[in-house]
Amino acid sequence: MSVIGKDLRDPDSFGEDLFAIANRAAELAPIYCQGCASYHWRIPAQRALGVIESLGVDRYKLVSEVREILGPRYLTADEISIVLAGSADTGLLATLAHAVASLSADAVRRTTFLVMDLCATPLHLCMEFAAQQGLVCDVRQGNLLNLSIEQPVDLVVMHGILRFFQLNERTMVVRNATSWLKPQGRIMISNSFEAMSDRESAQKRRDKELTQQRLADAVEQGLLKSPSAMEGFAAEMRHSVKVSMQRDRIFLTLSDLINLAGNAGLIVQNCSFAQISEGDGKLPEKKRIIAVLRPEPTEQVSQKN
Ligand SMILES: C[S@@+](CC[C@H](N)C(=O)[O-])C[C@H]1O[C@@H](n2cnc3c(N)ncnc32)[C@H](O)[C@@H]1O
Repeated sequence: MSVIGKDLRDPDSFGEDLFAIANRAAELAPIYCQGCASYHWRIPAQRALGVIESLGVDRYKLVSEVREILGPRYLTADEISIVLAGSADTGLLATLAHAVASLSADAVRRTTFLVMDLCATPLHLCMEFAAQQGLVCDVRQGNLLNLSIEQPVDLVVMHGILRFFQLNERTMVVRNATSWLKPQGRIMISNSFEAMSDRESAQKRRDKELTQQRLADAVEQGLLKSPSAMEGFAAEMRHSVKVSMQRDRIFLTLSDLINLAGNAGLIVQNCSFAQISEGDGKLPEKKRIIAVLRPEPTEQVSQKN
């Protein structure tokens, strides 16, 4: 994949050549994806075509939150470490690295990124992107429910990952991530917010079908490589979209966030929203909540003689 001319600090590309990344995912997915259907190709391929979903909604908000959390730390700490707890492609790494790079070139040099995912495809994409952009980056393949790390970190970012877990696992996965933090560490969670009305669900389904067609057209026109033979491609795409539609909304109200944080031993430090409306305001808004959580202060245990 090529990033020639793609500067990490560029506020449009964030250093990513999305067609090259999607086409690299098309090569990697058949080797490494196991049961991901075309998900790890679909995400960068959709982004290459300009489909606004997920990071497309809150990328700039994440940048300002990361700058706010980490900016002051570079004044006092030699090194800063960031964990990406789940990453579909290079998008989240590019976003976080862009945020750090916008602080200073020195901040980039002093930052270590660790990308975790069940699947090796996005990990390979991230390692290649990091090498091209000169980022210090490591990867860890495994389940976020039980992955552990050696050195405590400053920030764990969980972008759209909680909906991959059953209700009873969500507290466990956030608790596990909390165990990776330095005492002053933070967890940043981003997810779609509020329940969808029937009209919104129907619109989302139509959007996804349209996107599926655009992806197929782009493959046919040779703009994008397909990760699988064309006969299986349409069925695989339908399956990937169906699975995605079935995943829950995690936060329907603010109480859901506060409860999850409390159950995991965290306090909500702040939360904000990112929203995008398309179709001249005729289509339902895409709204995400971005929450910064911090560990509850542990009680000082005084020693008795
Ligand atoms: C982080 S989420 C959502 C995508 C995110 N919005 C982004 O742009 O990167 C998707 C990733 O979570 C990974 N994933 C799902 N369940 C997981 C688990 N139990 N442990 C680790 N990674 C997981 C999937 O393989 C996928 O790459």
